[in-house]
Amino acid sequence: MRVVERINDVRSTVKEWKSQGLKVGFVPTMGYLHEGHESLIKKASEENDKVVVSIFVNPIQFGPKEDLASYPRDLKRDSEICERAGANLIFHPENEEMYFNDFSTFVDMNGLTNGLCGKSRPIHFRGVCTVVSKLFNIVAPDRAYFGEKDAQQLAVVKRMVRDLNIDVEIVGCPIVREEDGLAKSSRNTYLSEEERAAATILNKSLMLGKEEIQNGQRNSASIIKIIEDSIKSEKLARIDYVEIVDSSSLEKVEEINISSIKDFPNHPFKVINDEKMQEMVKSVKEYGVILPVIVRPKEDGTYEMISGHRRKRACELAGIKQIRCIVKDLTDDEATILMVDSNIQREEILPSEKAFAYKLKLEAMKHQ
Ligand code: PAF
Repeated sequence: MRVVERINDVRSTVKEWKSQGLKVGFVPTMGYLHEGHESLIKKASEENDKVVVSIFVNPIQFGPKEDLASYPRDLKRDSEICERAGANLIFHPENEEMYFNDFSTFVDMNGLTNGLCGKSRPIHFRGVCTVVSKLFNIVAPDRAYFGEKDAQQLAVVKRMVRDLNIDVEIVGCPIVREEDGLAKSSRNTYLSEEERAAATILNKSLMLGKEEIQNGQRNSASIIKIIEDSIKSEKLARIDYVEIVDSSSLEKVEEINISSIKDFPNHPFKVINDEKMQEMVKSVKEYGVILPVIVRPKEDGTYEMISGHRRKRACELAGIKQIRCIVKDLTDDEATILMVDSNIQREEILPSEKAFAYKLKLEAMKHQ
């Protein structure tokens, strides 16, 4: 295994591998590796011919009051872990190699990065997206491996790769935990003995939430309250946020009574009780509604269906009273555009329905 500091050395090595038809896996890290990283490297080496690990504490993803200076570093130990786990190359650049003095191009993302951790770390994901896209350009891997512990980061990277057409497969890997349930993290070293013991409350509380869901609870607010109450029982713990969101859109998911969801006014697509609907009813009875519908809240406390009229009808026919919903705050025009966009690709739409839908969308776009 080699350790290199220069972009050109990574490029020439990977080019050589690719000329031999070899597949390249990539694990981006900030070093101070633990068993979580080790599991990513092992998976990468199982699924690829060669593995590159980057070790770079990326300054632009740290806010001014965050822990850039104190972030733990130990290249010697990291190299041993990489070698043991099957890495072939470590890329360990200095800041100057990654960022010119007048560096001025960033990858910024709307929406997905605003909530959850993004709320208290406003520049964090801009820094992550920028460095990860640079690293993808440098390494040009076939697959890249990220931990599910940083669930928002995983969703953001997947979205970035989709939006920017980056030719890499993103692989999410399960969390590795200590015996008492605490997720492994390089930052666990910051904890005093007392804080370390208190930190187990996080996993314990999540497990209570999970148990609640397994017992059939589908009301987000009740599940969140159980988790919050449990975390608050630990005096050293402070809650930043507890939210239940869709794992790829990161939007809030709630179980809502079907009776309080009204159809979209002027909805151009007819919901027909045909053979396909009967199949959907059967599937909903057996598996529930897998893909949540999209609704927007109305002032009177009810909701308006944006995407999911057929799923809602299938639930009604199956005698199901509640449905999983992504709740989005949308203006009338935004709602119209999303309603049209999320239906227009369906095969069975009539030309007349399509024409009317496009007319609605055009009107809405004119107002924007
Ligand atoms: O998860 C991390 O360690 C970092 O955010 C990453 C992906 C290596 C980018 O600096």
